[in-house]
Amino acid sequence: MNGRLNVAVIGAGYWGPNLARNLRASRDWNLAAICDLDIDRARKVADAVGGAPVTSDLESVLSDPMIDAVAVATPARTHHRIVLAALDAGKHVMVEKPLADSRDRGGEMVRRAQEQGLVLMADHTYCYTPAVLKMRELVAKGALGDILFVDSVRINLGLIQPDVDVFWDLAPHDLSIMDFVLPGGLAATSVSAHGSDPLGTGKSCIGYMAMPLECGAMAHVHVNWLSPTKIRRMVIGGTRRTLVWDDLNPQQRLSVYDRGVDVNTVSKATAKDRRAANVSYRLGDTWAPALEEREALGGVVTEFAAAIRERRASRTSGAAGLRVLSVLDAAAGSLAAFGAPHPVPRLVPAEEVAA
Ligand SMILES: NC(=O)c1ccc[n+]([C@@H]2O[C@H](COP(=O)([O-])OP(=O)(O)OC[C@H]3O[C@@H](n4cnc5c(N)ncnc54)[C@H](O)[C@@H]3O)[C@@H](O)[C@H]2O)c1
Repeated sequence: MNGRLNVAVIGAGYWGPNLARNLRASRDWNLAAICDLDIDRARKVADAVGGAPVTSDLESVLSDPMIDAVAVATPARTHHRIVLAALDAGKHVMVEKPLADSRDRGGEMVRRAQEQGLVLMADHTYCYTPAVLKMRELVAKGALGDILFVDSVRINLGLIQPDVDVFWDLAPHDLSIMDFVLPGGLAATSVSAHGSDPLGTGKSCIGYMAMPLECGAMAHVHVNWLSPTKIRRMVIGGTRRTLVWDDLNPQQRLSVYDRGVDVNTVSKATAKDRRAANVSYRLGDTWAPALEEREALGGVVTEFAAAIRERRASRTSGAAGLRVLSVLDAAAGSLAAFGAPHPVPRLVPAEEVAA
């Protein structure tokens, strides 16, 4: 496996062309085929990346012994079937978020990859952006202290997806970032979810999820397809500092606030006036870490090749995809119970094996 690996892109709709472009530009990969049920879409993408074989027949891709891997960018409801067929044909797989359209189906995909000894990677694209990599670094080295809260907002006028609601379409981004950045990953104990469908589309177009985390922090995610203003912001508050990521501000995507609330130990003598005695506010500097500007998908395709060559789990493994699905499944359970907290099941060991 010293030369380039051969890869086929499955699905040439909105996102597939981005995968094809980055795979074509990578020194790790040879773009061996582009496959779409709609052959004209496949042709258009092949032309845009300087030419590649095209087909509308997935079986012909999977039975080609020269193809080492597939990158799947088809709608969520098709991931389970396509990914299992690819794994059974001996191909390594990278699949778009969400890993699958249910936790059970995702679990089956993770187990099958493990049985076959193949890499199953989730394209959690944001985890490869310079901003999120820096957030992970700052949290890991304790710059924020203990995490107290996470607040994530991802709202804009978005396409109402035919197969999934707004939680399954947008929240995988926020949840996969939390899984990547937080110490202990996405360890939510329960989810309370509220959704709204003001246009009568049959699915939630506006969604709110509240999740207590095992580390004691509280997380909240707001996703929305109906907002005329676009906001992509995550705030991670800690005992020492608070970090704000504003993905739509290229001049300053990340800000670190050396400000916060100090809770002092209260002696018995001062306990009478608790409010006055035990809280003080720190007003320090705000700074902006320098960040490179580079396309995250370049890092995604490099990591996919490295995981295959090094026979290891990728940084955003199938198991990471499954942790995201566990929270989404719990959110669906909570929605069905009108917002009552729904427990997030722990992954069984077989599902935790990442490659
Ligand atoms: N990582 C990201 O930031 C990001 C961004 C957008 C979309 N996505 C994900 O990418 C996936 C695709 O989304 P999209 O918006 O590109 O969808 P899309 O509907 O625009 O494109 C999907 C394409 O897949 C093709 N297709 C469907 N079934 C197929 C099959 N069996 N064989 C071959 N081709 C098939 C369709 O013909 C279509 O061209 C979804 O899972 C979505 O969540 C990820």
